[in-house]
Amino acid sequence: MYFGFVKETALKKDHLVVGLDIGTTRICAVVAEVSSMQKQGKRGFFTKFKKADVLQDDHYNVHGSGINIIGVGSAPSRGIKKGVITNIESTVDSIVEAVQEAETAAGVDIKAVHITITGAHIGCLSSHGVIAVKEKEIGHREVDHVIEAARAVAIPFDREILHVVPSGFIVDGQSGITDPRGMAGVRLETNVKIITGATASVQNLMRSCEKAGLDVTGVVFQPIASAAAVLTQDEKDLGVAVIDIGGGTTDMALYYDGSICHSAVFAVGGNNFTNDVAVGLRTPAQEAERIKKKHGCVMISCIKSDEEIEIGSADGKLFRSIPRRHLIEILQPRAEELFGLLKDEITAGGFQKVINSGVVLTGGAAAMEGMAAMAENILELPVRIGTPTGFEGADEMKGDPSFAAAAGLAIYCAEESMPLTGFNSSGIVGMKAKVKGWYEEAFKIFS
Ligand SMILES: Nc1ncnc2c1ncn2[C@@H]1O[C@H](COP(=O)(O)OP(=O)(O)OP(=O)(O)O)[C@@H](O)[C@H]1O
Ligand SMILES: [Mg+2]
Repeated sequence: MYFGFVKETALKKDHLVVGLDIGTTRICAVVAEVSSMQKQGKRGFFTKFKKADVLQDDHYNVHGSGINIIGVGSAPSRGIKKGVITNIESTVDSIVEAVQEAETAAGVDIKAVHITITGAHIGCLSSHGVIAVKEKEIGHREVDHVIEAARAVAIPFDREILHVVPSGFIVDGQSGITDPRGMAGVRLETNVKIITGATASVQNLMRSCEKAGLDVTGVVFQPIASAAAVLTQDEKDLGVAVIDIGGGTTDMALYYDGSICHSAVFAVGGNNFTNDVAVGLRTPAQEAERIKKKHGCVMISCIKSDEEIEIGSADGKLFRSIPRRHLIEILQPRAEELFGLLKDEITAGGFQKVINSGVVLTGGAAAMEGMAAMAENILELPVRIGTPTGFEGADEMKGDPSFAAAAGLAIYCAEESMPLTGFNSSGIVGMKAKVKGWYEEAFKIFS
């Protein structure tokens, strides 16, 4: 199978998927078993190579159900800054550590993984494709072709295409068509979002995995992975913003009408809060991280004025007591800055009107007290904290937003049964896989 479990122990478990979330603070490997319901299910999970089978059956509401996480491994991330690799050797060590732990927990040998990618280098652009329909009716071939046409935009040589996501079709001028198959028409058009990343960053991630002895079978933009674990289909249809606030970056993906309509990455995350605390309270980074997690809050109005906290000295030995208010006075401006950036991004693109079901905050830093309230104040939208759901097992991940991307990656892999959508124009996955990937992504909106 394409999941790449090539050793004997793993061959019996060809219905496994492995996601490797390569974060700035932590690398997390998740092994998930896809249940037989999905194997034989409406979605055609294991018949995906037979397009006809998949096409005959549009119903594939499998979000999360039938996915059982059987092994999780994590390791502190060394060698990554703001989502981008700065030291390959250290990254390889962390990947090996996380993968070995997941192998032991799941009892399998992992040979291939899907990985997440983030960083300020990720870009999102719109494109349009149009083809003439020569057959009597539109079929999957025409859908493939029109997406391929939309994908044919000039991309700078130093960028890779990561995702090509169609957001509806137009047949003979009639727009708003989610599934043109079976329709008559002479002209088929589609609008797509193309998500790209810097070639060097993509290749450094791939290289690190290869050095760790792993094949990379897909690369998923981090908030797309997070969305798979924290958003409902209704939210995606109505319009929602998923915001993953990690250690090094804050990633935003906007969904409307079931598919992604905008994305942005900011090089600000939980580590900035920690650094501010370390500088502001003159304490080592490790102690600042502890204080932030234990006593942190981003809204002064949420705390009592007489609260006191204990903080360690630079050598970590002496403790002194300070008003908790001092800590909040450091954290609040950083949160205001972050949500101000997000607000500017949303309003600049006029997206406020499409975010009808509000904002879902996730990622480790979303766990800090007051984040949802602060986001609501600044973004002027309803906000909830999204924790990963939609799978069995790994109960420790369920209430923890820092696992959204890792759990979501496993769900995304299981649901999509990729190779990744249109991944990479430089042939890492290859043309056949690319076309198949475009089709898979097109198929996603037919539900
Ligand atoms: N309870 C908490 N309160 C405040 N911050 C927290 C809490 N729990 C985790 N964090 C912060 O969340 C961040 C890590 O989040 P996460 O694991 O989502 O990041 P990552 O995936 O490693 O990074 P990135 O996605 O940016 O590459 C750290 O900065 C950590 O301090
Ligand atoms: Mg992350």
